[in-house]
Amino acid sequence: MRIILVGWGVVGQSLAQICLHRKKELAKKYGFRPRIVAIVDKGGAAIDPKGLDLEQMLSLKKEKGTVAASKQYGCLGMSALEAIESVEAEAMVEVTPTNIETAEPGLSYIKTAFRTGKHVVTTNKGPLALALPALTELADYNNVYLRFSGTVGAGTPVLEFAKNCLQGDRIISVKGILNGTTNYILSEMDEKHITFDEALKAAQKLGYAEADPTMDVDGYDAAAKLVIMANWIMDKKVTIKDVKIRGIRDVSSQNIADAAKKGCTIKLIGSIEETLKVEPTQISKHDPLAVDGALNAVTFVSESAGEQTIIGLGAGGTETASAVLRDLLDIKQNIANKMIT
Ligand SMILES: NC(=O)c1ccc[n+]([C@@H]2O[C@H](COP(=O)([O-])OP(=O)(O)OC[C@H]3O[C@@H](n4cnc5c(N)ncnc54)[C@H](OP(=O)(O)O)[C@@H]3O)[C@@H](O)[C@H]2O)c1
Repeated sequence: MRIILVGWGVVGQSLAQICLHRKKELAKKYGFRPRIVAIVDKGGAAIDPKGLDLEQMLSLKKEKGTVAASKQYGCLGMSALEAIESVEAEAMVEVTPTNIETAEPGLSYIKTAFRTGKHVVTTNKGPLALALPALTELADYNNVYLRFSGTVGAGTPVLEFAKNCLQGDRIISVKGILNGTTNYILSEMDEKHITFDEALKAAQKLGYAEADPTMDVDGYDAAAKLVIMANWIMDKKVTIKDVKIRGIRDVSSQNIADAAKKGCTIKLIGSIEETLKVEPTQISKHDPLAVDGALNAVTFVSESAGEQTIIGLGAGGTETASAVLRDLLDIKQNIANKMIT
């Protein structure tokens, strides 16, 4: 499969490492031979229709800051749109930064890939939070696949669990911890009896929280993931504007101490029932959702199978890249099945 990789940061490079280290196994076990024909970062692109040397591209990024510095394959200043339009490939992997205000630049990359007949795998929540119903329609119209497992739960297969493992059942409601940073902060406040500001600083020191923590602590990241689940799993045609969002900034040490007296804890819970909500919620310490640290946990309630909870890490380069790989394999399998039927 020829792939254009847009974004050569933590996730893009982790995907390359997995492809390098598991090359033989991927070919033997799955017949999967990824050929990365273009890589794009902010400096430009590197293009080789025969497949780029990934070791070389990793070193180049470290030494020169951009893959476009390659003497043989580099195109300094080439935009991702130009690369997507001009390079022949079956798929595009889009791993640029999330922007939940305009969804750009990822949204335009995804639309251009569709228009030029490329399947898309993305880990970028922005385009999906703002326009998932339209994007799935556009993918169908262009006869290509759109996959985005890594957007919810990173490597933890939250979307696949609901969509594939619970196939045939009807999911009635979903609730979960969808953001590891806020869970880390709330867990620290509970365990160490510290304030929100102290716990936030600790999270920033460990690299769990960004210098500007708005996306996480104000609940937008969790809300974006909720929207993706509502659309993909429960066929609700919603965007982030439909979510009632309250973050954790006003959760006090006193609130947590009061909850603890009742054998409870406070978590930032996203829920899909009649409405979509993200808000700090008191839950029993025995609730399967009462996970600590940077973990994510999601409980699905379905009509016949009852209640199940899936728990795992919700971030990390390698973890998220493993989801991209799963999506690429899924697309490959779907293409193969189409050829048989
Ligand atoms: N890391 C995680 O644990 C994780 C987990 C789940 C989902 N995600 C999502 O996955 C996506 C990628 O995350 P990441 O951690 O890999 O981010 P990152 O390390 O910041 O990498 C982003 C990459 O995108 C490139 N880029 C930025 N603007 C661009 C543009 N206009 N055109 C072309 N390339 C552009 C950057 O180029 P330069 O290298 O030149 O700056 C960089 O290579 C994000 O949307 C993130 O929210 C990440």
